[in-house]
Amino acid sequence: MCGIVGYVGKERAISKIMIGLKALEYRGYDSAGIAYAKNKKVKMIKKKGQISNLEKHLNYDENTNIGISHTRWATHGKALDVNSHPHHQGKITLVHNGIIENYDVLKKKLEKEGYVFKSDTDTEVAAATIDSIYKETHDMVEALAKASKTLKGSYAFAILNDDCLDTIYGIRKDSPLIVGLGESENIIASDIPAITHVTTSYVIPNNYDIVVLQKDKVKYYDQNKKEITKEIKNFSLKEETISKNGFDHFMLKEINEESEVVKRLISLYTDGEKVKDLVDISKYKYIDIVACGSAAFAGQIGKYYIEKFKNIRVNVYFASEYRYQKNFYGKDTLVILISQSGETADTLAALKIAKENATDTLAIINRKDSSIAREADKVIYTEAGIEIAVATTKAYLAQVIILLLLAIKGFDEEKSTIEDLKLLPNLITKYINNFDYTKISKLFVNKDHVFYLGRGIDYYLSMEGSLKLKEISYIHSEAFQAGELKHGSISLIDRNFGVIAVVTDKNVGGKTISNLKEVAARGAKIIAITNIHDDNFSDEKIEVDDINDVINPIITIIPMQMLAYNVAKLKGCDIDKPRNLAKSVTVE
Ligand code: G6P
Repeated sequence: MCGIVGYVGKERAISKIMIGLKALEYRGYDSAGIAYAKNKKVKMIKKKGQISNLEKHLNYDENTNIGISHTRWATHGKALDVNSHPHHQGKITLVHNGIIENYDVLKKKLEKEGYVFKSDTDTEVAAATIDSIYKETHDMVEALAKASKTLKGSYAFAILNDDCLDTIYGIRKDSPLIVGLGESENIIASDIPAITHVTTSYVIPNNYDIVVLQKDKVKYYDQNKKEITKEIKNFSLKEETISKNGFDHFMLKEINEESEVVKRLISLYTDGEKVKDLVDISKYKYIDIVACGSAAFAGQIGKYYIEKFKNIRVNVYFASEYRYQKNFYGKDTLVILISQSGETADTLAALKIAKENATDTLAIINRKDSSIAREADKVIYTEAGIEIAVATTKAYLAQVIILLLLAIKGFDEEKSTIEDLKLLPNLITKYINNFDYTKISKLFVNKDHVFYLGRGIDYYLSMEGSLKLKEISYIHSEAFQAGELKHGSISLIDRNFGVIAVVTDKNVGGKTISNLKEVAARGAKIIAITNIHDDNFSDEKIEVDDINDVINPIITIIPMQMLAYNVAKLKGCDIDKPRNLAKSVTVE
């Protein structure tokens, strides 16, 4: 969600900036723009639509060594050229990721001062706010320190000032921003993939740190204008480089990486027979799992595992609700935050609230050094490697496996479960390759509505399967507890409906099959993902192995991911960058 790249250095800036901006496409956006300095003036180009649309208006040979750029995911104002970033007011030109919550009040005040706004955005108000303060201070560091007390909400800014066009200023609050340190060139961006072509060394500013970025030096200041030093970190280029490796889409590549992810997790977090000392969750009486989207659905599987083995009561909440609802905090409660990006605003806010209430927090995170990873009391990394497709696959699977490892630690089943997990890499490869997903998907490609049905753990899996399908194929899809369907929603079922049935849980499988007969009788077409091999209850069947009730949920997700992928492919959808979605949701 919104990507920022700013570059200052020895090279022509536009090409350096655009390489970075393209590496942030995965975050999701609907317009893009750039501002650069040439002959002591700022030139700005902004276009709605894809980055390729902006590129048509750029001259890569332009003699400029400094610029800022942005991919925008619209929050305030439609996706139009005029609302795209950068925004310019007075001497300030800036790009922004986040939301300025008090922009309306500030706008009215600034209009009285004579500022005229061209766009509907909160960002243009931020530009004017900083400009207005700078007019008094004539000092950008002081202006930013003061502005950060005025601006409410979340932000990461990269800023040019007409008075010093050899410098990019940066400041963040709750939105991601990193500084990449090169040789006679420096870069500021939302995420590591955008800086790999310049450097592997980086600094993460804390909230409210002020960054002053020039070609040969970077300085950092605190709110009192005192210069501060920051820890320089390094990343491995291999992990952060973005390539499809010959696959048609990142999503398919990432599904194919799931075997490796499982092997990596077994080798990192077990000694082959026992789970290593990760975090002892046994001492808690209650566990709240808090997350958004797929991460919350991984949490549902985690609830099943933790309740089964540890006998601890677990509740799973969407972070957007958790942060405002009544919760029960205290020393006997653990709050587990799950997030691929580690930057999801709602999950980050939930973490902060739990900490403020003196409750222990554990984060299960994929992106190293992300905000949630840095702020939680304890963190376990999912080690799935960088995930580019907006719809998560390998990170979700890794989250489920980490939750399983936490749950089985110290139980008789520990050794046998690790043995079972070792079966997964081959099974994953088998499920990717052994079914004719194109043929099966044709049954659903023209459907407008799909219900995913399951009971118990199969319902929890259905939630993730359904989300995958709707995210990337735009088919309306809902997951239902199979037994609940008849209490209302079955009224919708007719021959235009598709049903995907998940039937792996032997305890309730027979009941689900009865429910499927009910929907078949009303004309719906059924695809079953099941380990029941000797009963015919669907139009198409994807037969998975029956290992046991702990491992079955993990393997069943692979056909669900492949099904969603293939339906979206048949429909010609933009699979890796679905409309309206963002990989990293850094606003509320
Ligand atoms: C976005 C994505 C979802 C994702 C969710 C949580 O909404 O579209 O696919 O599951 O964010 O992301 P996180 O990075 O916190 O796991």
